[in-house]
Amino acid sequence: MKKEINGKTKIIGLIGKNIENSLSPFIYNQIIYKHSLNFCYLPFKITDADLGEAIQGIRALNIKGVNITIPYKEKVIEFIDELEESAQKIGAVNTIVNYKGVLVGYNTDVTGFKKSLQEAGKFTAKEKKAVVLGAGGAARAIIYSLLEERAEEVCIFNRTLGKAEKIKQDFSLFFPKSSISVLPLVEESLRGKIKEAHLLVNATSVGMTSQAENTPLLDEKLLHPNLLVYDVIYRPAKTFFLKQAERAGARIINGLPMLVYQGIGSFYLWTGVKPEGKEILNVHNQRLSTI
Ligand code: ATR
Repeated sequence: MKKEINGKTKIIGLIGKNIENSLSPFIYNQIIYKHSLNFCYLPFKITDADLGEAIQGIRALNIKGVNITIPYKEKVIEFIDELEESAQKIGAVNTIVNYKGVLVGYNTDVTGFKKSLQEAGKFTAKEKKAVVLGAGGAARAIIYSLLEERAEEVCIFNRTLGKAEKIKQDFSLFFPKSSISVLPLVEESLRGKIKEAHLLVNATSVGMTSQAENTPLLDEKLLHPNLLVYDVIYRPAKTFFLKQAERAGARIINGLPMLVYQGIGSFYLWTGVKPEGKEILNVHNQRLSTI
């Protein structure tokens, strides 16, 4: 097994704004080690103003590729050279691969979300009604995935309504027969839609470790036992939002399975190696037992 960093080590990493609590560096480096690969995964904490230069730096430093996370999944597009088809349609990139100086953007969140719903949630979106809170890069991938799976209705709630309207406008081109509705993130609008929904997803950043007592859901009485409630956040493992859902008798899933399945896709693009979901979950559980 290779344990050393040497002159041939290939660098991969994570670009985001608040990534101190990210599990990705630990998980990827363990997988690299287990597969004896000469790679190293590093965190790059970048400010909005430095994003363009950081992406230029991928070429300059011959970095093999990076994950992109909150809040840069959409903004990063203007700085890269090419987009793979699904990243182009979704309008968000969570993975960049550097092919000899040509930076190509991918979106592995779509498959990550789809697989996590199937495997961890035992849920099929076809002909079901879904409510998605949020309209950022993660929400775009989730909504696209639900439409691709032919959900009966996807209802998008967001604080900034214009961003949700833009998603509806963009995605209606690819899914002209789908029902997409857009509403402001307020209790009156949420009530009716959540009542008839089968799936409720938090794709906002509200409730992450730095603001763990927050929730995007104003009144937990809106929740019910027939819902699968999904939070894209994985730290804390059970957000306040998921606690609300549990109290209401709903089934819950956190963002870890999505992190795992999108990660398998990214890792394969950089290294040509496809780790098993189980293998990554074991590494994660091992990590939890040490903190
Ligand atoms: P990502 O790329 O991971 O989706 P993002 O693009 O920054 O990250 O999106 C974050 C989402 O969380 C957005 O939907 C954002 O709402 P706005 O579009 O109105 O900014 C949502 N969000 C962040 N903080 C929020 C808050 N305090 N209340 C409600 N929504 C919030």
